[in-house]
Amino acid sequence: MPRLTFITTAGRRLEIEADSGQSVMLVARLHDLGIEGTCEGSLACATCHVVVEPGDMGRLEAASPEEEDMLDLAMRLQVTSRLGCQIVLTQELDGLTVHLPES
Ligand code: FES
Repeated sequence: MPRLTFITTAGRRLEIEADSGQSVMLVARLHDLGIEGTCEGSLACATCHVVVEPGDMGRLEAASPEEEDMLDLAMRLQVTSRLGCQIVLTQELDGLTVHLPES
């Protein structure tokens, strides 16, 4: 089971064991971390915005053009911003760290 660490806006670290195949958005929702994921992962909102730890960006597949377009609608966009619904966990992503954006 890959471990995923969320860092809250207050700097609190939450390490969670997730199932492979779950998205970062789904894990955040299951743990009530304030990520909405309104469109359920169909790339029609930006409410699953997370900010990936810079050192982990190279571990992820590049964002698709559709994800890039939707990210433009996210509040407080950062260089390592991604849509949590588009990051699907695998064992290779064990230890991934993402920051929850300010709402
Ligand atoms: S849940 Fe809507 S774009 Fe990710």
